[in-house]
Amino acid sequence: MIPYGKHHIDEEDIQAVVDVLRSGILTQGPIVEQFEQEIARYVGARYAVAVSSATAGLHLAALAAGVGPSSTLITSPITFVASANAALYAGGSVVFADIDPQTINMSPHSLGVALKNNPNTKAVIPVHLAGLPCDMPAIKLLADNAGAVIIEDAAHALGGSYPEGGKVGSCLYSLMTVFSFHPVKAIASGEGGMITTNDEAVYRKLLRLRSHGINKLDDKLEIASQAKTNGEANPWYYEMQELGFHYRITEMQCALALSQLKKLDQFISRRRTLAKKYDESFADFSNCRPAQVMGRDFSGHHIYILRIDFNTLNLNRVGLMKKLKEKGIGSQVHYIPVPIQPYYRKLGLNLEDFPDAINYYEEALSIPLFYDLTDVQQEYIVTVFKDLVG
Ligand SMILES: Cc1ncc(COP(=O)(O)O)c(C=O)c1O
Repeated sequence: MIPYGKHHIDEEDIQAVVDVLRSGILTQGPIVEQFEQEIARYVGARYAVAVSSATAGLHLAALAAGVGPSSTLITSPITFVASANAALYAGGSVVFADIDPQTINMSPHSLGVALKNNPNTKAVIPVHLAGLPCDMPAIKLLADNAGAVIIEDAAHALGGSYPEGGKVGSCLYSLMTVFSFHPVKAIASGEGGMITTNDEAVYRKLLRLRSHGINKLDDKLEIASQAKTNGEANPWYYEMQELGFHYRITEMQCALALSQLKKLDQFISRRRTLAKKYDESFADFSNCRPAQVMGRDFSGHHIYILRIDFNTLNLNRVGLMKKLKEKGIGSQVHYIPVPIQPYYRKLGLNLEDFPDAINYYEEALSIPLFYDLTDVQQEYIVTVFKDLVG
């Protein structure tokens, strides 16, 4: 079976994890810090905070951005539920801005309307779907004018860059950027995430929130008298100054991710070649087309999405997925629009507000794209599609 996505692990990765197991330090050690530094260096951000998942990262980022009761966060309807849930975890509310049908990313026009209708907007979460960077200059202009901060959901976009220059994660257009290292992502740590930022106060807050709200670095103590005995520092003393969480990541996970990071550019380059080959191959199909054809040299190429016109086919999506499976080809749908989810429907959202997201959802299908996909496998996938979809 050729899955729609898959990680690549080599002996060097395995050895890196084994080395940690032999080192005696399993968590809160030097490898977590090294991974943070290397990600910060790779993307060109001042700070990076490693967390247990991108979901945890989005939660902390929403809190660090000041999202709370009575504040609104705007995101895209075509994303994984975690991007929207971040607002609710922080006690705020979520609003969706429809997608641009050309990119499947948040439409700046829809964002402008949503910001006008929601003057309490504290944060905007653009999602770089499939790794394709959103129109960040336009989104930043709108968010700045509305006094909202930007948190980039870059779960799909490590290794991607902006057409205007700079790597995704450099926070050139945002207060924070959040990455995921779940196995189908660009690099894998098992589970894991990273928040990057250039803002020192935000960095310090993220460090505290990641670990129970306990003071970090040289944070000012609230009860300094408790910190010393006869003028000498109490080595056990710490202060919990706000309510935080336990969202830490282990040394083993970061060792794996660090080893994977060395191969990131090689991973992206192969994914890019495969994506371009798919683009060429599907160009003359009459019933399907690539969902995102622009920005091929900038995308992180996390997934490859086709838009299939099932109305003109004698086959619906379930039937197609079944036939693909019979031929040993995995496929998936990214994503069910979040406002359709039962939990979000109950919040009273009007689906007519997201026509482009709904249209996209009716046609979307992700097909295999991962580093180890061979040319022969790719040709086979295209041949099977020619047969079934044409
Ligand atoms: C767009 C997006 N945001 C956030 C997440 C959450 O990532 P994680 O599984 O690391 O919590 C995902 C996971 O697939 C995602 O696709």
